[in-house]
Amino acid sequence: NKGGYEHYMQKEIHEQPESLTTTMRGRLIQGGSCKAKTVLLGGLKDHMKTIRRSRRIVFVGCGTSYNAALASRPILEELSGVPVTMEIASDLVDRQGPIYREDTAVFVSQSGETADTLLALEYALENGALCVGITNTVGSAIARKTHCGVHINAGAEIGVASTKAYTSQIVVMAILALAVGGDTISNQARREAIVDGLYDLPSKVREVLKLDNEMKDLAKQLIAEQSLLVFGRGYNYATALEGALKVKEVSLMHSEGMLAGEMKHGPLALVDENLPIIVIATHDACFSKQQSVIQQLHARRGRLIVLCSEGDAASVCPGESCRVIEVPQVEDCLQPVVNIVPLQLLAYHLTVLRGHNVDQPRNLAKSVTTQ
Ligand code: UD1
Ligand code: M6R
Repeated sequence: NKGGYEHYMQKEIHEQPESLTTTMRGRLIQGGSCKAKTVLLGGLKDHMKTIRRSRRIVFVGCGTSYNAALASRPILEELSGVPVTMEIASDLVDRQGPIYREDTAVFVSQSGETADTLLALEYALENGALCVGITNTVGSAIARKTHCGVHINAGAEIGVASTKAYTSQIVVMAILALAVGGDTISNQARREAIVDGLYDLPSKVREVLKLDNEMKDLAKQLIAEQSLLVFGRGYNYATALEGALKVKEVSLMHSEGMLAGEMKHGPLALVDENLPIIVIATHDACFSKQQSVIQQLHARRGRLIVLCSEGDAASVCPGESCRVIEVPQVEDCLQPVVNIVPLQLLAYHLTVLRGHNVDQPRNLAKSVTTQ
């Protein structure tokens, strides 16, 4: 049931205010006798001590699920103080990389059935790590085989391109960071700002969905392009990877997400007046660095599309030359949830305009159950 939408991907993009609300239901706690703003993940409460004491947290996933974990890594490191490392599931298995008893390995998977992620889980179980699942599918192989975990409760996702599961995964991992971090006096203000930001997030996503027509218009401009680059850093390095993945998998346009800090180490050679480049420059601790990236791209006559916070258009854009997409500003660790939405919309409209299959891109399956 597409609920009046033309495609499942479109429906799933537009239902994110609701899916995020469901994801958070019962997990944010405000008020009560102590008035503390806190969080509850029922599936992890008996394991929290072990997670806090672990030597390292290792995120494992593929595709969009990997990108969601990457978006959540900085806040988990900040609040927990535990080193967090990233593993693409197939690569961990290929290398037989080190996993220890003192590790917490977190397996992120929408379907809970991805073969690569399952093999990595079996490997981590053999090596004695505490294995935590973050999945959308109750009763899935990953939900059953992990020691504990969290269901993201985003509702069934039908479109092959993952959209609402991505934003719900990030929200669950932000709540995970709050849970592992625990209450300390020194991080109280930060924690409260994040909890307040989570409460507001569905309405911010509803606001950013109003960019639908603007993104359709941008898609019309990009319809015949061969290639699209997306530059991000910090919290939004993941947004660059995920935006590019969305564009390539459904619209069949070549697209690469890149770490802006790596620009001068190779990608800058590609820049000319023809290649479209999206730069994510919303307001956070990396903002001034992104401003300087934009200036350097502009100096090489780059064709820029800048995603920035509302009110920042004048300070990000040198002259009339670039196109600006303004989004509401939220707490830095939640900004990836807002920022991905216009890129999901862009991928969707590019696909429809280019005449490709939105919900079943060629050669792809929703759940990759073979290696
Ligand atoms: C649970 C109930 C929910 C109910 C809530 C009320 C289920 C599936 N969830 O939600 O319906 O409203 O209590 O308190 O019945 N798990 C894994 N691996 C995973 C994911 C989950 O082992 O990848 C385990 C968890 O550790 C937990 C159980 O599955 O034991 C349910 O997880 P989750 O649905 O996230 O727990 P609650 O949010 O407490
Ligand atoms: O079900 P999973 O989250 O484990 O799937 C992982 C990837 O196969 C998946 O995210 C894939 O990259 C999507 N098609 C992306 O939209």
